[in-house]
Amino acid sequence: MLLYEPITIGGVELRNRVVWPPTVMFRGDMQNRVTQESVDFYRSIAKGGAGMVVVEAVFINPIVPGLLCIFDDMFIPGLKAIVDAIHEEGAKASIQLIDPMPLFFTVDNIPMEWIKVSQGQYIAAAKRAQQAGFDIIELHGAHGYIISYFLSLRNKRKDDYGGSKLENRMRFLNEVIDGINAECPDLPIGMRLNADEFITGGNTLKQTTEIAKILSAEKGLVYLNLTAGGKHEDAVSIVGNQLKWPYARKGPHNDYHGYSGHRSMPPAYMPDGVNVSLHEAIKVAVEEATPDFDKRAKVFACGKIPTPEFAEEILQAGKADCVSVCRAQLCDPEWANKGKEGKSDEIRKCVYCNHCMDACGYGYTECLQWPEAKERKKTKEYKGGGLVITPLDVYK
Ligand SMILES: Cc1cc2nc3c(=O)[nH]c(=O)nc-3n(C[C@H](O)[C@H](O)[C@H](O)COP(=O)(O)O)c2cc1C
Ligand code: SF4
Repeated sequence: MLLYEPITIGGVELRNRVVWPPTVMFRGDMQNRVTQESVDFYRSIAKGGAGMVVVEAVFINPIVPGLLCIFDDMFIPGLKAIVDAIHEEGAKASIQLIDPMPLFFTVDNIPMEWIKVSQGQYIAAAKRAQQAGFDIIELHGAHGYIISYFLSLRNKRKDDYGGSKLENRMRFLNEVIDGINAECPDLPIGMRLNADEFITGGNTLKQTTEIAKILSAEKGLVYLNLTAGGKHEDAVSIVGNQLKWPYARKGPHNDYHGYSGHRSMPPAYMPDGVNVSLHEAIKVAVEEATPDFDKRAKVFACGKIPTPEFAEEILQAGKADCVSVCRAQLCDPEWANKGKEGKSDEIRKCVYCNHCMDACGYGYTECLQWPEAKERKKTKEYKGGGLVITPLDVYK
């Protein structure tokens, strides 16, 4: 199967084309450091056969306990332990870098000084990631976080970082990439990118194909881990909600409510591979912009890819270079190995109930189908209901 053929991305050879996309696991400690549980989890995904494991959204500045951070050198040893476990199991390691700033500002009122602070934090985080041994890094450029906030057509800033010109909306990102390249010249950079934001007035393929072309042909990104939607203006805030648009939330699926949210983590009612046609369009665009395969950003399709056979069809049809498979691998971490061994019928099947998203709400990502989760459910109250995000002094 093509799915199990190696592929080289930014000079890094992956044993196959199955990617574990970034997924916050809430296994960090009270100081946001890696725990043994974090290491064990990532080892299980690598052991289960994925070619590349992208470690979850790791915060470049302080955030609530349980999430992982990389804003200080003290985080390097823990992150290195994850990298070592992934490597020992034969996979390659990437890490998603995230700035949660849009939780505290809207893009139009992020002060210039904070733009510079964020960019500096990204560059410092990339250096630390390289020191921890990651093969590649991934910028979180989707789901309403800061980079996608700037890229969005909804960015109406009046200065050089927003408005109708794409050049301006890409400036924040481009400066981050240039800064990382200057500090870490050998570090390949990938990015999470929304193919369509699925919000009124937001980016559609018209803008995202242009962005993708520039990132591949001009900025030298090595992969685009594609997604869609995520944050949404069609969700309704509940009383007491601390978060501003686009983080308004309405239970039970935390931030990811509303149509945009659903496109990001397609629930059971959506068709399999619901975002693949969008991701294919981006692949066509980057192929045109960067005809040399070795130099082109590799395109990962994502969103409700349930089986290795379904993934194989996507690859055979040339719609993507790799597949990012989150919930199906979360449900059964042996997903990739079972597919390779012709034992797909033995895969524990994700039913796309999004309980794992709700589980983020009580601070421990898990699949309801895991035997141990079923046991816990008997003893623990499963409320869901969302993260408690405490704004930090630094953002006041
Ligand atoms: C519990 C949970 C946490 C997630 N955390 C992240 C994250 O940290 N960064 C990110 O870009 N996407 C995150 N996602 C989105 C997934 O990477 C993926 O894009 C999405 O689940 C769709 O893929 P799937 O249908 O294979 O699950 C998360 C998804 C889930 C279910
Ligand atoms: S809880 Fe399990 S079955 Fe439900 S969507 Fe998440 S991974 Fe799939």
